[in-house]
Amino acid sequence: MKLHHYGFATKSIEKSLKEFERIGYHALSEKIIDPIQKVELLFINNENNHPIELIAPLDGNESPVSNILKKNGPILYHICYEVENIEKSIAELKTKHFVIVVKPTPAIAFNMRKVCFLYNPHIGLIEILEK
Ligand code: NI
Repeated sequence: MKLHHYGFATKSIEKSLKEFERIGYHALSEKIIDPIQKVELLFINNENNHPIELIAPLDGNESPVSNILKKNGPILYHICYEVENIEKSIAELKTKHFVIVVKPTPAIAFNMRKVCFLYNPHIGLIEILEK
């Protein structure tokens, strides 16, 4: 599996972007609104290719991200990997103690490519993104 990005939950994309910029990151696009997941997103990167996805709840909406923020505050909470075939990868990961948290869904941020979230008690949350 190839790294695609690290997911970082924040209350404010603007405030996090400002601080990440101070340590060498830059925005890769404008903010993306995802009304399905009720989140807003922004991808950032630095010169060493450390892609991070900033994710914030949309206008105080309840979402999995708002629960993470309530529990932990701003936090790095998932690793996303790019895979050739999402169903095949899910089947494989299930044999390695992962359970599905969010079933395969088209993602607005990735031109409706499918993503799926899985959890392993000793690895945490991962996202897989179909090529
Ligand atoms: Ni992600």
